[in-house]
Amino acid sequence: MHKDCERILLTEEQLRSRVKEIALATDERYRGKTPLAVGILKGSVIFYSDFIRHLSCPVELDFMAVSSYGSGAVSSGKLTIRKDLDRDVRGRDVIVVEDIIDSGFTLANLRALLLERGAASVAIVTLLDKKERREYDITPDFVGFEIENEFVVGYGLDYNERYRNLPYIGVLRPEIYR
Ligand code: IMP
Ligand code: MG
Repeated sequence: MHKDCERILLTEEQLRSRVKEIALATDERYRGKTPLAVGILKGSVIFYSDFIRHLSCPVELDFMAVSSYGSGAVSSGKLTIRKDLDRDVRGRDVIVVEDIIDSGFTLANLRALLLERGAASVAIVTLLDKKERREYDITPDFVGFEIENEFVVGYGLDYNERYRNLPYIGVLRPEIYR
């Protein structure tokens, strides 16, 4: 285990089997459709690449990068798009793939934006859900794991851009971010 982690929360094996389960459940819902899977950069990339490989429906891939200030001290009340989609979402069934929902600010705003742009449907798939932290009205369609209010890293999740490449999800030692 990495020395900056206090303990491993989710092992590679737990991630592998649960990601497969939620991907197969998602696949079931999109039978006969051609969804657009939108990965939210950068945190979702590892989850995203594992997730989409279990889909058998003809899925198309796209990515967005956004900044949110919803979970910090100051809420901008607006989502900043740093990299937008290449594809038009009008009439599309969009699957937003995210690493973690915390306050819900990012996904509540993103969902509203995609619907405003004319998406036929927007489903939210998140690997992790810190449910007790929720401040904005957003209910994910598929959740990998509900977790406690602890800062986690690995499998795409970072602290200051570090630890994304850890193959497991670990709880970061509080002294690292305090
Ligand atoms: P929200 O907009 O408050 O729901 O925040 C979601 C974003 O906060 C995620 O996409 C992550 O970038 C970040 N985040 C929240 N909790 C954690 C964590 O425990 N580890 C790493 N990133 C986190
Ligand atoms: Mg993120």
